[in-house]
Amino acid sequence: MPNPIKLIIDTDPGIDDAMAIFYAAAAADIDLLGLTTIFGNVTVSQATRNALRLLEWAGLHDVPVAQGAAKPRALPPFAPSHNVHGSEGFGDMPAETPKGKAIAESAAEFLTRMAREHRGELVLCPIGPLTNIADALDLDPEFATNVARIVLMGGSLEEGGNITPHAEANIYHDPHAAERVFASGARIEMVGLDVTHRILCTAQDFNTMEAAAPRLGGMINKMSRFYLHFYTTVGKHDGCSLHDPAAVIACTHPELFTPRAVPITVACEGETSGATLIATDGRATSQVFVATRADAVKQQYMDVMAQLD
Ligand code: RIB
Ligand code: CA
Repeated sequence: MPNPIKLIIDTDPGIDDAMAIFYAAAAADIDLLGLTTIFGNVTVSQATRNALRLLEWAGLHDVPVAQGAAKPRALPPFAPSHNVHGSEGFGDMPAETPKGKAIAESAAEFLTRMAREHRGELVLCPIGPLTNIADALDLDPEFATNVARIVLMGGSLEEGGNITPHAEANIYHDPHAAERVFASGARIEMVGLDVTHRILCTAQDFNTMEAAAPRLGGMINKMSRFYLHFYTTVGKHDGCSLHDPAAVIACTHPELFTPRAVPITVACEGETSGATLIATDGRATSQVFVATRADAVKQQYMDVMAQLD
């Protein structure tokens, strides 16, 4: 097997974030160098607490967590998505205080330092609003070229939105940051709703995960009940989307996705705020994943999760 990729996940855990982080913990082809936290599904302090707890549950006590932004760049703060992820982030599971603490560096400081130290090798996988990534771009003019790839969960090219008819939630929660990132010239792969809406897990799939890996798979199974219930409230009865796990899987298995080179800009105001649109200003293209072998992505997820515990 080739060397594992060096990965940092920027996250707002969050149920599907937890699914993604446990996947990264179990995947032999991923060397997880750190987590950075962001507001979104929960507040940033809850996100940091949850990120630390996830790493402790997974036995990754040496993986650092750096706390990031508490609110969007220009918009007023958003209320956390309690209806989707529960009041503490993991569905009905009660909050737990971690043993460890976040490091003293901010998320942007940690990201820029790690991108410098692992120039051309660091893969960054943001699975929440993009505020920390925009802050890192402002902090270090070389960040865009130091980082090897930014494989982000967010946006939608032709699928429409999930938080408004036009916008996907991560982009909607900080459109100004997302615009900064898409205009940066960094090598970007966009894992948006065009593909994540095709990758679904059912209650039966989560039961299978628990049977294979009773402790951590069982935890994901428990959290997933709340998430699956949310999906039924919006009329989706065929399972929940593996949004954030799909982005982590795309970091190591791009062959499971079909890219289209598109320059992306983000609407920052009005009814379409948060929409990812085709830019016409000559900016660099992003690789937007427009199709996926959904069954193979799900199988990849299930196979790796079976190795947990
Ligand atoms: O739109 C899906 C995204 O929004 C996921 O990252 C989910 O965790 C929420 O943050
Ligand atoms: Ca997320």
